[in-house]
Amino acid sequence: MEQVNRRGFLKTASAVTAGTLVSGGTKIHLLAQEQGEPAKPASANDQIQIALIGAGGQGQGDTRTAAEVPGVKVVAAADCYNGRLDHAKELWGDDVFTTRDYNEILARKDIDAVIVGTPDHWHKQVSVDAMKAGKDVYCEKPMIHLYSDGPEIIRTAHETNRIIQIGSQRVSSLIYTKAKQLLASGAIGQLNMVTAWWDRNSALGAWDYTIPPDASPETCDWPRFLGTAPKIPFNAEHFFQWRKWKAYGSGVAGDLFVHLFSGTHYVTDTHGPVRAMATGGLRFWKDGRDVPDVLLGTFDYPQGFNLSVRVNFVDGGEESEGLIFTGSEGTMEIGGDAVSVNRVPRETEPGFTIESFPEAMQKEIVKAYREKYPIPHPTGEPPLGYAKYAAPAGDSDSYNHLKNFFEAVRNRRPVVEDAVFGFRAAGAALLSNVSYERGAVVRWDPEQMKIV
Ligand SMILES: NC(=O)c1ccc[n+]([C@@H]2O[C@H](COP(=O)([O-])OP(=O)(O)OC[C@H]3O[C@@H](n4cnc5c(N)ncnc54)[C@H](O)[C@@H]3O)[C@@H](O)[C@H]2O)c1
Repeated sequence: MEQVNRRGFLKTASAVTAGTLVSGGTKIHLLAQEQGEPAKPASANDQIQIALIGAGGQGQGDTRTAAEVPGVKVVAAADCYNGRLDHAKELWGDDVFTTRDYNEILARKDIDAVIVGTPDHWHKQVSVDAMKAGKDVYCEKPMIHLYSDGPEIIRTAHETNRIIQIGSQRVSSLIYTKAKQLLASGAIGQLNMVTAWWDRNSALGAWDYTIPPDASPETCDWPRFLGTAPKIPFNAEHFFQWRKWKAYGSGVAGDLFVHLFSGTHYVTDTHGPVRAMATGGLRFWKDGRDVPDVLLGTFDYPQGFNLSVRVNFVDGGEESEGLIFTGSEGTMEIGGDAVSVNRVPRETEPGFTIESFPEAMQKEIVKAYREKYPIPHPTGEPPLGYAKYAAPAGDSDSYNHLKNFFEAVRNRRPVVEDAVFGFRAAGAALLSNVSYERGAVVRWDPEQMKIV
């Protein structure tokens, strides 16, 4: 990694800032939007028509944001619960085509791209079917549920020449882009550790989402929801709180670690770890779920740093999420919609401990020491202390991520968070589950994307 002096650091640090504000005595640099709005469609025919497959909380949220991007129109939605199809019409109009069977959507010629907001166990099949039907895909994270999903999605994207972007929106965040620049410029010296966490302490935080009063085999297409999951009788908890069971979700690793991995890989420009160890347990939310609510993972990266990730759903406090990058000359923290650098360069001389020695010896040591390490005159610029960068009010990484997707769709350009990126992030995150279940260290080849 290139090292820079303070002046170089300041120059890089100010590269994309657009003004400053002072809050509580701290100066905050406001980051500028790096790209303008996407080019408007040249004609009505140039409009990108999209459909939502999996119209639950996140799918509806993504699609509402997508509809804000100029030139994007929502024309259809598929879901297994009638209430969500009804709400899709409330959101996007009565003429929005709705169905329980996403294949009816894929058969339509007027749909260019789909947003996949299903539970994890459907991500691969819907994405692959959509690409084979000629649609571009925005698929929610984690890209995979099973390791075999990764190569199939990557291969299909390649063979069909479709664009697929995975939905860890922080990859399109101004804050993360700034952090990436800061790290590359040497702002914290040589990276040796990343500490990332996502802690919660609430029922909703632990995925106890509301079950609608009309939930039944009539309003819910249970067989379609199950897909490849084990065939069990209708269970509304499984349907609406699917994250709690590994048949459909991927535990905290697939739900939350994956965001922290996407962020880490983007900022550090790395492909993934080579070794993983995880431990944890089900400590509090003992409601029949089969995944832990406390999980700790440690990972070795071949670039010479370790990643430590944690999720604790019983954290005894407020929800808290963040990443700290530790380097030889400082630390960089991402949290609360800002990135801050605390720079304390290493000492240029080692110092001495001589007080317990005879006085004559102390003098001798000091003399020899100062010959070796003369006091610098002048003493030079003080080390840069603290710098903070925040996104401007109203900036949204979700909007930026969808805007980037539609720009790629319109211009047939590659995206950053493509299928390979998505597999490297999810594949690394899910090593935690493998290690936790095996009670053993797991090795991963981040280039070939394989457990070894
Ligand atoms: N990027 C983020 O910040 C973020 C945030 C939350 C969730 N997510 C991801 O979004 C996905 C959805 O999560 P959610 O919280 O919206 O879940 P949800 O339960 O609210 O919605 C999932 C929907 O998919 C539907 N569905 C299931 N099988 C289907 C099928 N075969 N065809 C069509 N629809 C089907 C269900 O009926 C349900 O309405 C998950 O993969 C999750 O990890 C991402």
